[in-house]
Amino acid sequence: MAKGRLVVVGTGLITPAHLSLEAKSYIESCEVMHYLMTDALAEPFLKELSSKNKNSICKDLGDFYFKGKNRLESYNMMVDEILADVRAGKSVCAVFYGHPGVFVYPSHKSITIAKSEGHEAKMLPAISAEDCLVADLGMDPGTLGCQNYEATQLLFYQHQVNVCAPLILWQVGVVGDVTMSTELVPAKKGVDMLKDKLFNWYPQTHEVILYEAATLPLMPPRIDVKTIAGLKEEDINIITTLIIPALSKPALDDSFCKKWGVQIN
Ligand SMILES: C[S@@+](CC[C@H](N)C(=O)[O-])C[C@H]1O[C@@H](n2cnc3c(N)ncnc32)[C@H](O)[C@@H]1O
Repeated sequence: MAKGRLVVVGTGLITPAHLSLEAKSYIESCEVMHYLMTDALAEPFLKELSSKNKNSICKDLGDFYFKGKNRLESYNMMVDEILADVRAGKSVCAVFYGHPGVFVYPSHKSITIAKSEGHEAKMLPAISAEDCLVADLGMDPGTLGCQNYEATQLLFYQHQVNVCAPLILWQVGVVGDVTMSTELVPAKKGVDMLKDKLFNWYPQTHEVILYEAATLPLMPPRIDVKTIAGLKEEDINIITTLIIPALSKPALDDSFCKKWGVQIN
């Protein structure tokens, strides 16, 4: 089998403003560019970049979105499509929005399989929704730490939430949906389930932030503050990320400090 090369890159949330020079150079030089974009403006820009290599071809992974029975099947079709070109010995660039490794199944899967078959494969870092929220909300993960969960996974597994650190919940727009439907809506009562789960750790009146990073230049981010009890399905979109600020500061571990002779002022 010919040895191909796969480079997975991300465009950030605003194309082209967030695209790194390194990612741009791989898009410009690859033989096949696969892309999965949610922003219609990004597509012509990426095609224009890719056309710098006269022999390159572009393939829209979005074509597979509704071909599968559910999202997982669609994503596996995307993986097969990317790998077919890698296996043909081509230099392939796969482009996803945001960071290509943050909540993106086909990117990690393609790299894992390509490497296991002896092809060269790597991912470049990019700007994710979390990077944007750190900037927009002034939320430094170095202050209290930070927890990230996929909203549906938080519901159905026994995670231990640390109320002394902020909690970032991704994919609240499909919360509770275990069918992995391509329709992208929350499960019936998904938001009620989420509130019920959060009440295990937080009071009903705890204020949370519905956050949407700008996806166009000059567009402001959405930063809506609600109480947990006041969260409603109609306020949550498919791009909404939910931030639950810390409830309290962590207590000092006196016995550990004493054991090691450390004095914190
Ligand atoms: C499939 S994940 C993709 C994340 C993306 N790879 C990234 O790096 O941000 C989709 C989830 O990312 C978050 N997301 C996507 N776009 C966003 C935006 N503009 N603002 C805030 N969160 C966003 C939401 O939680 C959404 O449900």
